[in-house]
Amino acid sequence: MALREILTVPDPRLRQVCKPVETVDDDIRQLIDDMLETMYAAPGIGLAAIQIGVPKRVIVVDVDEDIRDPVCLVNPEVVWTSDEKRVYEEGCLSVPEYFDDVERPDRCRVRFLDRDGEPREIEAEDLLATCIQHEIDHLNGTLFIDYLSKLKRDRVVKKFVKQARQSGAAAPL
Ligand code: NI
Repeated sequence: MALREILTVPDPRLRQVCKPVETVDDDIRQLIDDMLETMYAAPGIGLAAIQIGVPKRVIVVDVDEDIRDPVCLVNPEVVWTSDEKRVYEEGCLSVPEYFDDVERPDRCRVRFLDRDGEPREIEAEDLLATCIQHEIDHLNGTLFIDYLSKLKRDRVVKKFVKQARQSGAAAPL
């Protein structure tokens, strides 16, 4: 396993649409292990492959604080969402130290391949549902700040562009 660097806004790679995984092989299992190690070290409760620069449709989630019980989803697809919504104050390892309320369906059903390549389905609620939807958004280039008002979003992105400039990194936005 290896700890990987997490991309942060305004890195343009976070905006790309990720490609489906064709075969769940040892390379993908290695990627999943690296993602888990990186997520736990951060610490975070979810991570998408693109956040470590790999444009593949792979996400890992673990919302349990007490025991390590990760869910690893390859090619996840939301097949159903509840009409009831839920507001949660979300954060993101790619938007460090910023939190804001986002409304999403309270429950969802997701189809995916597990780390052995077996097709599976999970029905999630509460924080797990929020987290899975947040991570699947990453695979489509969407960040949680996209749900905020334009004013708020611009303010957040501007802050990160400024930070990137100050640290001498190129600011592509
Ligand atoms: Ni995120």
